[in-house]
Amino acid sequence: MRKEPVIAIKNLNHYYGRGSLKRQILFDINLEIYAGEIVIMTGPSGSGKTTLLSLIGGLRSVQEGSLKFLGEELSGASQSKLVKSRRKIGYIFQAHNLLGFLTARQNVQMAVELNQVISQPEAVTKSEAMLGSVGLKERMNYYPDNLSGGQKQRIAIARALVNRPPLVLADEPTAALDKQSGRDVVEIMQRLAKEQGTAILLVTHDNRILDIADRIVEMEDGLLTRDAQNAVIKNDSGVKNHNS
Ligand SMILES: Nc1ncnc2c1ncn2[C@@H]1O[C@H](COP(=O)(O)OP(=O)(O)OP(=O)(O)O)[C@@H](O)[C@H]1O
Ligand SMILES: [Mg+2]
Repeated sequence: MRKEPVIAIKNLNHYYGRGSLKRQILFDINLEIYAGEIVIMTGPSGSGKTTLLSLIGGLRSVQEGSLKFLGEELSGASQSKLVKSRRKIGYIFQAHNLLGFLTARQNVQMAVELNQVISQPEAVTKSEAMLGSVGLKERMNYYPDNLSGGQKQRIAIARALVNRPPLVLADEPTAALDKQSGRDVVEIMQRLAKEQGTAILLVTHDNRILDIADRIVEMEDGLLTRDAQNAVIKNDSGVKNHNS
C-alpha cells in the first residue's frame, strides 16, 4: 500500500479579482505527490502554474476545494497554521532571492536558524555540509554578487534543502541559466531529493530537463491536462527519449 501523499489536492478552483472582474484561473485541479517523487509541471505562460504553486506553498489562501499538506487541510487554515506548514517547505524561485549582504554560508545558515533551535556552531556545520554537497565548498564565504548565476542558484538549493523539508517547490529554477548550469542544478536537486526522500514539484519551460522527472503534469488554461509517469529510455548513444 502506498503511504499518505505529501500533497493531496481535490477539486481545487481559484479565482482572481472581485465582482464583475472576478476571473477563474484554476479549474478542478486534482493532484497527489508522494515522498521522494519529482514532478515536473509544464504549460504555457499564464496557464496558472505559479498560482497553483503559491497555493500549495501556503502563500495564498485556498478558496474552493481541498488541499492537504502532510494530511493537514490548508483550506480554511489559520495564518499560524499556514506559517507552520511553510516552515516544512523549501522554496526555489527563478530570482533566487538571496540576501546580498550575507555570504553564501550565512544565507544558508539563516534558513537553519529560522527553522530550528540549534547552536550557532551546529548551524554553521550544517550549512557548510550542505554547500559542500552542492559543490560550493570553495565559495562558502563569497557574497552572491561575486558568484555566477548557476552558483547563486545552487546556494538557493542548499538553502531550500538544508532543513530536509518533506516538500520543495521550484518555480523555473533554471530559467536564467545556460544549458550546462541548468542541468547541474537540477541533477543536484534530483540527487538530494532521492537521498532525503523529499518530494519536488518543479515548474519549467526547459524541455532539456524533463528526464529527471518521475512524473510530468501539464497545465493548460487552468486545467491539468496531463499527469503521466515519465518513462525514460536510455539508448546506447546515451541520448534520452521521453515517453509517457
Ligand atoms: N495577483 C494576480 N491578480 C490577478 N491576476 C493574476 C495574478 N497573478 C496572476 N494572475 C493571472 O492569472 C493567470 C495565471 O497566472 P500564473 O502566474 O499562475 O501563470 P503561469 O502559468 O505561472 O505563467 P508563466 O509561465 O508566465 O510564469 C494569468 O492570466 C495571470 O495574468
Ligand atoms: Mg509562473
